[in-house]
Parts: sequence; structure tokens; C-alpha cells
Amino acid sequence: MKECKHLAIIMDGNGHYAQAQGLPRTAGHLVGSDNVRTIAIAAEELGVEYLTLYAFSTENWKRSMEEVKYIMSLPALFFKKYMKEFMRRNYSMHILGEMDALPEATRNVLIEAVEESKNNTGLHLNLAVNYGSHREIILAAKQYAKDVKEGKASEDLTEELFESYLMTKDFPPVDLLIRTSGEQRISNYLLWQIAYAELEFVPESWPEFTPEVLKRCIEEYQTRDRRFGGVTK
Ligand code: FPP
Repeated sequence: MKECKHLAIIMDGNGHYAQAQGLPRTAGHLVGSDNVRTIAIAAEELGVEYLTLYAFSTENWKRSMEEVKYIMSLPALFFKKYMKEFMRRNYSMHILGEMDALPEATRNVLIEAVEESKNNTGLHLNLAVNYGSHREIILAAKQYAKDVKEGKASEDLTEELFESYLMTKDFPPVDLLIRTSGEQRISNYLLWQIAYAELEFVPESWPEFTPEVLKRCIEEYQTRDRRFGGVTK
């Protein structure tokens, strides 16, 4: 069976899900954050080792102050509810993105979750917060140029060397990228890392994305013929 070691998800549709029920958009984000736990467990049970979720992009700051503030308050609530269980399940938390720009309280909660779980060896639960792929690549290029100038890196840049400057340097490439809520775009997510990933776009919004839908996605992935630029056997 073809394994899906690294699964990435663009968790779209929280706002519309809530609005369709006459609720404020923030209510959708709350349900969405609870669904992170549900889907993490389901993914682990389906053999996923790395789950990388797009929680907040570098472009999401354009939203109303109220919505941004609410999303930034969610990690505290989320880890308060679920951190004990994540520790019991041996999950290790990682953050992709520039943490400096986050509200101090949010940053501290995230750092604490990473620190507390750093010796765990189970599912890698990676949250992309204030993450954007262009920004990630620019930062990597700048650091590489600096290292070359200081004689710390070879001028002979290879793919492997460049990857070691990315925020995902400790993770394998993405096998499958799922986007919920029907939109068919990548939105500046893991552009380098999805070079050979399979892509799936599902109509369900993120709060409606259940373990059954995930299972269907993985089954669909297993039918795909991944050639990585080669030819079919
Ligand atoms: C996009 O859907 C979703 C976001 C910008 C936020 C996603 C955040 C979460 C699911 C919470 C994660 C938090 C933790 C602590 C894990 P949208 O609401 O923009 O969708 P729309 O297209 O319906 O407006």
C-alpha cells in the first residue's frame, strides 16, 4: 500500500460554514480548531507521520481586526483543551512561519507546546501560522547568501542544501495536499515542498471535513500513479 507519510491540508471554509448557519465567522474558526484534533487522530490512525496544517497565512492579516484577534486567541484554548491528550499520544508540535509578528501571548503558547512535546516521537503536528511560501523562500535565500558571504556555506547550491534553509527542513516532502471548501488553488502554501505532491480539492468545508472524508481522500491518493517525472511501469 502506497503510504502517505506527509499530509498537508489547507483548512478552508470555516467562515462560510458558520455564516450558512447564521453564526459569526469566528464560530466557524472555533469548530475548525476542534476539528484539528479530530483530524490529527484520524490521520495518525491512517498511517500519516507528518500533518502540516495551514492555520494562518501571511495574507490573513488583511481580515478584520476582530477576526484576526479571535484566530490568535485560539491556540491558547486549543492547547488547554488538547495538550494533555497530545502528550499521551506522543505527538510532537512544530510551528512553521514567522512567530515574531504574532501577539506575545499567542507566541508564548505556541513555543510552550513545541517545547513540551519536543522529545515525542509520534505524529508530527505542524501548524503553519503567519506562514507564506514566498516569504519562506526569500528568508531561506537571504540566510543562504549571508552564510556564503561568511564562508559558512558552499557556493555550489544544490536542492538539498537549499531545502536545509526552509522551515520544513526536518520534514520529508509532502505526499498529498488537500484543500477543503471547493476552491482549487494553493494560496502560497508549501510551494517548494509540493513539487511532486498529489493534490485533492474537496467540497466539504473544514468543519465538515470528517475522518470519513479524510479516509476517502487517502484511498483516492492510493489509486494515483506517482511517477515523479519518470514513466509508468
Ligand atoms: C480559512 O477559512 C481558515 C483560516 C484562515 C483559519 C483557519 C484556522 C483554524 C482552523 C484554527 C486553527 C487553530 C488552531 C489553534 C489549530 P475561512 O474561514 O477563510 O474560509 P471562508 O472561505 O469560508 O471565508
